[in-house]
Amino acid sequence: MAPPQISPSILSADFARLAEDVERIADSADWVHVDVMDNHFVPNLTLGLPVVEALLRHSALPLDCHLMIEDPDRWAPAYAEAGAGSVTIHAEAAKAPIRTLRAIRAAGARAALGINPATPVEPYEDLLGEIDMLLLMTVEPGFGGQRFLDVVLPKVRRARQLIKDRDLPVWLQVDGGVSEETIERCAEAGADVFVAGSAVYGADDPGEAVRKLRGQAEG
Ligand code: DX5
Ligand code: ZN
Repeated sequence: MAPPQISPSILSADFARLAEDVERIADSADWVHVDVMDNHFVPNLTLGLPVVEALLRHSALPLDCHLMIEDPDRWAPAYAEAGAGSVTIHAEAAKAPIRTLRAIRAAGARAALGINPATPVEPYEDLLGEIDMLLLMTVEPGFGGQRFLDVVLPKVRRARQLIKDRDLPVWLQVDGGVSEETIERCAEAGADVFVAGSAVYGADDPGEAVRKLRGQAEG
């Protein structure tokens, strides 16, 4: 298992000051998690490729783009080509996930597959060789600041076991409700990449919040 990594979500940052808010975590975080929502796959609208391209010019950290959109097959390769470090597509939305994941990798980014809380991981076990990261949603996607869904933890354990059985270098990311109260449970279940929005940007010192979360994930 890889050492824990923290990917703060700018969904809870100030959208009018994104570059400044990314700078506040630049020394402590590993990634910047960017939630792309289209108001179709999820009932919320955030930002798209032009904002990601602008952020890429201002962020010292790589961007971890989480596409919560209806047509990831069409859009995901463009995020990778723009320079995103990692691009996540949702299993529930992709119509040709293998082709799209391969296109993301071919464009030089890490390819990730995301699955919602009620979607089982087992149907996707044969795809583990096609991905660099598996994202397990621990809230229903669409909004920051929701309560962590403990019901997903057994799936985190099963996913870690599937990755281990195949001896693959796939990272396991949890996203939603990850905080000082819940991160230890996620790490214990086998997650190694932690998205945190409100727990980081709701804190007085986001950089310090990231360091604390990392300390807890390390156990
Ligand atoms: C929710 C997003 C998350 C969100 C997490 O659909 O995918 O990345 O920003 O926010 P918190 O950490 O506040 O639950
Ligand atoms: Zn996200």
